[in-house]
Amino acid sequence: MDEGMGAGISNEKLKRCDVSFGSTVRFGMLGGGQLGRMTIQAAQNLDLRVEVLDPDAAAPCARTAYRFTQGDLNNAKEVIDFGRNLDVLTVELENVSIEGLTALKAMGVQVWPDPEHLALICDKGVQKQFFADNGIPTADFHLIEGRAETMTRALPSVQKLRVGGYDGRGVQVFRTEDDARYGFDAPSVLEDAVDIAMELSVIVARSTAGEVATYPVVEAVFNDLNLVDFTVAPARISEEVAEQARAIALDIVEKMNFVGLLAVELFLDRDGAIWVNEIAPRTHNSGHHTIEGNVTSQFEQHLRAVLGLPLGSTATRRAAAMLNLIGGAEAEGTPVYAGLAEAMAMDGVYPHVYGKALVRPGRKMGHVTALAPSATPMCATSAANRIIELKSLLSVQGS
Ligand SMILES: Nc1ncnc2c1ncn2[C@@H]1O[C@H](COP(=O)(O)OP(=O)(O)OP(=O)(O)O)[C@@H](O)[C@H]1O
Ligand SMILES: [Mg+2]
Repeated sequence: MDEGMGAGISNEKLKRCDVSFGSTVRFGMLGGGQLGRMTIQAAQNLDLRVEVLDPDAAAPCARTAYRFTQGDLNNAKEVIDFGRNLDVLTVELENVSIEGLTALKAMGVQVWPDPEHLALICDKGVQKQFFADNGIPTADFHLIEGRAETMTRALPSVQKLRVGGYDGRGVQVFRTEDDARYGFDAPSVLEDAVDIAMELSVIVARSTAGEVATYPVVEAVFNDLNLVDFTVAPARISEEVAEQARAIALDIVEKMNFVGLLAVELFLDRDGAIWVNEIAPRTHNSGHHTIEGNVTSQFEQHLRAVLGLPLGSTATRRAAAMLNLIGGAEAEGTPVYAGLAEAMAMDGVYPHVYGKALVRPGRKMGHVTALAPSATPMCATSAANRIIELKSLLSVQGS
């Protein structure tokens, strides 16, 4: 087994964990998408009853939450009204009312991650500045106000909207001056393009008790929409690079004094150097394979971290690859999951359908994980090959 780092726990720490969960804890979550839904699946094993706020009455959590409230995640009053009687409140996305969460924290609700950390991460400009100020390796950058300044950095460069971008929609790579002319006209980070050999991610948990654990490094392969196409875990990189990536992730959570689950997206460049791209203060697409592939899933680990429970082992049980099921180019209406039954006839393939009522082109509708027979890097390639085979079989259409 690939050893999980930092998951060992002393008796001393166990004594400090005053285990309280299950029906005695009122536990809330902002956001009711697929990350929330998979969190609820893990929460049910602890009889933890998750109460969810989301703007969409048909959100994936709408029928699986213990209590579902339809409301605006960016409206401070609605967030406060939702959260005021909760014991613990967490998030499945970072674009939420920081004002509302700060007020709830002041009212005595345990809010994890801390609203200050969400504020830091929500604004890519502030996030980049944190890396620069704390010696975290990241591509050089400066901040700009809009399109008039998109040519103020040597090419190739990358423009990223400071707020509101997701799934690559707020990112543009400029290779020519002409590209830069069509940049976003809004406050942005303008940074050097990295000559990427591989995109990696490390998920790290830090509990309310200060215990930390990193997952083995994951390799992400992107499609032409800048969405993760599939992931492979453990990443096919040297032990040295893997150790370095995990050390950077640990350094970030310690320097932030972060509590919760943090996904650290990294670039490995063609010279073998590692750069932090960005961080996400929540469960992450690059950790879905941990449900079947690792001793503790990222969703359970997140709950353990915010409830102050001992963190679980992050060790790999079986190497895995994970494919997002994304709405096809013309897909509109009720989703039809073509090829899924055939995929399920294969050994070691696990389907996850998120329960979204409507499909749209590019919308994440589910994922499948393919497990390899064991945890070795060679097996990671066999899982990746299985996923490539599944890619040609699976599609999501509309009817
Ligand atoms: N400095 C860079 N050099 C080269 N490519 C980059 C750089 N920054 C971002 N990219 C590319 O753009 C992609 C999306 O960037 P980023 O992760 O910042 O955006 P995002 O909208 O937050 O994406 P997501 O929600 O999918 O994580 C990266 O995965 C990478 O492929
Ligand atoms: Mg990203």
